[in-house]
Amino acid sequence: MTGKIPFYITTPIYYPSGNPHIGHCYTTLACDCIARYKRMQGFDVMFLTGTDEHGQKIEKKALEEGISPQAYVDGIVANFQRLWKRIGITYDRFIRTTDDYHVESVQKIFKELYDRGYIYKSEYVGKYCTPDESFWTESQLIDGKCPDCGREVVDAREEAYFFRLSVFSDRLEALLTDETKDFLEPASRVNEMVNNFIKPGLEDLCVSRTSFTWGVPVSFDDKHVVYVWIDALSNYITALGYLNEKYDDFDKYWPADIHMMAKEIVRFHSIIWPAMMMALDLPLPKKIYGHGWITFNGSKMGKSTGNVIDPFILADRYGVDALRYHLLREMPFGADCAFSNEMMIQRINSDLANDLGNLVSRTVAMVIKYFGGTLPEEREPAPVDEELLGMSDALKALVEENFENLHLSVAIAEVFKVISRANKYIDETAPWVLAKEDAKKARLASVLYNLLETIRIASTLLSPVMPNTMPEVWRQIGASPEDTQWAKAGERDVLRPDVTVSKGDVIFPRIDLDKEIDALNQVLDSQKKIDNPQAGAGAEIPQVQVKPEIAIEDFAKIDLKVGRVISCEKVPKSDKLLCIQLDDGMGGRQILSGIAEYYKAGDLIGKQVVFIANLAPRKMRGLESCGMLLCADSPEGYKLVTVDGICSPGAEIS
Ligand code: ME8
Repeated sequence: MTGKIPFYITTPIYYPSGNPHIGHCYTTLACDCIARYKRMQGFDVMFLTGTDEHGQKIEKKALEEGISPQAYVDGIVANFQRLWKRIGITYDRFIRTTDDYHVESVQKIFKELYDRGYIYKSEYVGKYCTPDESFWTESQLIDGKCPDCGREVVDAREEAYFFRLSVFSDRLEALLTDETKDFLEPASRVNEMVNNFIKPGLEDLCVSRTSFTWGVPVSFDDKHVVYVWIDALSNYITALGYLNEKYDDFDKYWPADIHMMAKEIVRFHSIIWPAMMMALDLPLPKKIYGHGWITFNGSKMGKSTGNVIDPFILADRYGVDALRYHLLREMPFGADCAFSNEMMIQRINSDLANDLGNLVSRTVAMVIKYFGGTLPEEREPAPVDEELLGMSDALKALVEENFENLHLSVAIAEVFKVISRANKYIDETAPWVLAKEDAKKARLASVLYNLLETIRIASTLLSPVMPNTMPEVWRQIGASPEDTQWAKAGERDVLRPDVTVSKGDVIFPRIDLDKEIDALNQVLDSQKKIDNPQAGAGAEIPQVQVKPEIAIEDFAKIDLKVGRVISCEKVPKSDKLLCIQLDDGMGGRQILSGIAEYYKAGDLIGKQVVFIANLAPRKMRGLESCGMLLCADSPEGYKLVTVDGICSPGAEIS
């Protein structure tokens, strides 16, 4: 036993259906900041993050790439882990829902809920896209058609297990509206949950599927896999060892202190998750916190919208701490926050380079210039010191109050108020004037000591936000590791009276906004072209030319037919070629097509294409191509010629 108080904080487990972006960074950084703060306060912290790897979407993506779902998620999960390392995330545990111990626990949780009568077998009624083999709800359809492929859907029924969510309505409403608990924050989300979901009547939740296999099998009915939320939400307890042998931390850390997430999944965490805990007779988590979205050009930044910003690029260009600072400072409590590169650079310049950076470099430079680097011990206080010292004294409590309430940006703003006040104090006390008179040496030493102390307090309180650069500040102001303990941020005169400072590099260099925006745009553009080769093309009007006239007999020699793409994969070591297996109505054929820059392998599956059936076979990269797909060669890139409506493979084009 360490005797420390346990503190358990979690991020959502992210879908590895695309690479992480700034949105994922925000939640993970916010949790990291709280975890670091709590550790500094002496808590025994468990900080959990991870990935939510099952489901039909992932299964499909893997199929599109022609690899197994496990290989597909392994690649993306590695990118998440690489990013968390890059931006200094100090998670204690990383759970993957494909981990054996999690799978085992989920099976036991499902069975336990079934045995207790909270899960029952029934029928799921929905819309079904036959070619895609996917179920959809009415609200997921786009113009009444399959949201994935745009084809007709049919009414269908599927045997499924359901969780009796409806029986928990009253208890959930009481939990959410109990003002002494503040279970769900910000409070504005409580009304939304109660009025939009609980009051209209909770429906039982479909918790299994038979239409795909990439999931945790139901242990007593293996044609079913556990569907989404029971698998995903359970991570918060399986990662502690609930119903598994892997860990033994459940009693120590459960219930969680904070589950952090963005607003779109608050519903699942504040309704389904506590209901599951109630059904299992387990303690309820203490707080669900749903922050706003990071938006870019007016819409939520997200994998499916394509407007994602690569955090690696930002961290490389501006430094990890500047990125951490900007995101945590910018996101207002509970509301959305627009991200722009300009705003980020302006904030780095104004807050980090000007206010904090200058305060440190001016103060250290003056101690070196006027006292050779070591302060004399004599002091002479003056009334002008009081306001700055008073603000520094009060700062720790203010930061703690705001960190506790998860008002991270307010906590940071409070520190910067003191930093600004300290810069003003330099102008008020004019050390360069004091330095001219020997009799003012003690007064000058007081001024510089007060500044060093203010920097010590501010940098200690900012260290959960900027853990890489604050130690360099401490080195420059001559603070020892004991001096920068959290508790010491509430005390005065902690630095040695004869403290010695050290010159160092500029902590946050100023960025030339105009030059940087041009340079950054170039980097982002080239990034976009890699992701989407069509971008930027097509500015000129093409010269349209017609080939010499031919007779109908000439055209009739070309045997054009309809084919359906069955499978497709990229040809190894070729940037351009896709290898396509086609149902041609004649037993199938393979065609190679130079469209890999314009289509991902998975985009083509199921498409009805037009091909030349009587073109002489040809070998490319050692593979035989029996025919050719027709494409429009447009300024926007190659566009495949496809056939409207349902059409049998082999149908002739005339
Ligand atoms: O929902 N702004 O995973 P997910 C702010 N697997 N935060 C953002 C964001 C944005 N633009 N985009 C993403 C899932 N996030 C489920 C969760 S938990 C048991 C299962 C962050 O990959 C934010 O935390 O879609 C959001 O809630 C989460 O990523 C969604 O991640």
